[in-house]
Amino acid sequence: MVGTEETEKRYLLKAEVLDFPYSKRTRWLATRMGYEISAMSDQENGLPEFQKWPELKLPDLLFSDTVRQVHATIEKEWDPLQRSACQTAAGRALWKHVIHDPLADLLAGETYLTSLHEKIKRDCTNDAREISGVILAVRTLWIDSKLEAALHSFNAADTQVVLLGAGMDARAYRLSFLKESHVFEVDLPEVLQMKNTLLQAAMEATNYHQHLTMKAKSLSRVVADIRCNDWLEKLQISGFVPEKNTVWVLEGVLYYLSHSQAMQVLKIIADKCKLTQTVLLADFMNKASTTLSNSIFHFYSDWPDHLLPSLGFSHVKLSQIGDPDAHFGLMPDPLNLFNKLRSLPRSIQTHPDDGKPCCRLYLVQASGSPTKAIS
Ligand SMILES: C[S@@+](CC[C@H](N)C(=O)[O-])C[C@H]1O[C@@H](n2cnc3c(N)ncnc32)[C@H](O)[C@@H]1O
Repeated sequence: MVGTEETEKRYLLKAEVLDFPYSKRTRWLATRMGYEISAMSDQENGLPEFQKWPELKLPDLLFSDTVRQVHATIEKEWDPLQRSACQTAAGRALWKHVIHDPLADLLAGETYLTSLHEKIKRDCTNDAREISGVILAVRTLWIDSKLEAALHSFNAADTQVVLLGAGMDARAYRLSFLKESHVFEVDLPEVLQMKNTLLQAAMEATNYHQHLTMKAKSLSRVVADIRCNDWLEKLQISGFVPEKNTVWVLEGVLYYLSHSQAMQVLKIIADKCKLTQTVLLADFMNKASTTLSNSIFHFYSDWPDHLLPSLGFSHVKLSQIGDPDAHFGLMPDPLNLFNKLRSLPRSIQTHPDDGKPCCRLYLVQASGSPTKAIS
C-alpha cells in the first residue's frame, strides 16, 4: 500500500515534530507509507526505534529521600485540583523539545511523568492525530509568547506579572524577558509549600542549582485562595503595586472555580484597567469541555470575547488551539481534532460528523488601560 500525497505530508510533518534526523525521517515515512524499508536503507533491519517518543529519563534528584517524600505526600493527601499542578508540570517536562523548563520533571514527580509518558507512547504507537499533552504545550508556548509581547508593549522598566493559580510554574526561572518584571505566584498553601521544599532540594543538589538562577527581577510566592475576598490584599502585602503595569496569567485555573468566583476574579482584574495598563492571558473552557471530567470543572464561557469587554477590557483577542498563533508546528495532521473544531462555527455544540460534543479551549488575551477603560 502506498499512501496519498496528503498522508505523506502528514507523516513527514509528524516526523519533523518528533525531531527525527532526516535519514530516519525518510525511513520512518517510508514504513508508514507502506514502502519496503530494506529499499531505503542497507544499515538496519526491522522497525526502527524512532517511532518512539524519547525514553523517559528521570533525574536522580527525584529519588532523593526529601523529593520522594514530598511526592508521596502529594499523591496521598492532595485533591485532584492541587494535583493538577503536577500534571501540567509533567506536560512541560515531556514536551521538553519545545519548552525549556528544566525544573518541570522535579516539580511534576515520577507518577505524573510516567503516566503521561505512557499515554504519549500509546499515541505514537496508534499513530494518533494528536499526541497527549499537546494542548498543555501549545498553551504554555502561547502564554510565553503573548507575555513577552505584552511586557514589551508596556515599554516600562518596572512591570509586574501575576500568576494566579501558579502551581508548579517555573517561568520566573526560565524566561529571561522577565528581567524587568516582579513576578507573583499565587496558589494554595499546600501547593506553594511543597513547591518551596522541592526547589530547596534542587538548590542543594549539585546538578540542579544552575536551573534555579532567577530570571525575573524578583519573585514572591503569595499564599492565597482566589475564591476568597482577601487575595488581592495578600498580593499587595507581598509587594504588588496596583498602579504598575501588570500582566495577569490565569493558566489552567478559571474552570476550577464556580461561575461567581471566576467572575469575581475577572472583575477584580478588569477593575485594574482603570488604574494602569493591564493585560490578561487566560484559557477558557466552553460549556461542553466542562462536562468532560466528573464535575471537577465548573466555570465556562462559550463567548469570552463578549464577556470580557462587558467587564471593562477594551481589547480582546481569542485564539483556538490550532490557529496560526496557537499552533507552533505541534499539530501537523490536517485532520486533527483541533482543526476539525476550528472549521465549525463556534455556536455549534455537537459535531455534525460524529455527534460528539465540541469541546473547545479558548486562549484569550484581553487588555485595557486608563485611557481606554470602559466604565
Ligand atoms: C491546572 S493547575 C495550573 C498550574 C499552572 N498555572 C500551570 O499552568 O502549570 C491549577 C492550579 O490552580 C490552583 N488553584 C486552583 N484553585 C485555586 C484557588 N482557589 N486559589 C488559588 N489557587 C488555586 C491549583 O492549586 C493548581 O496549582
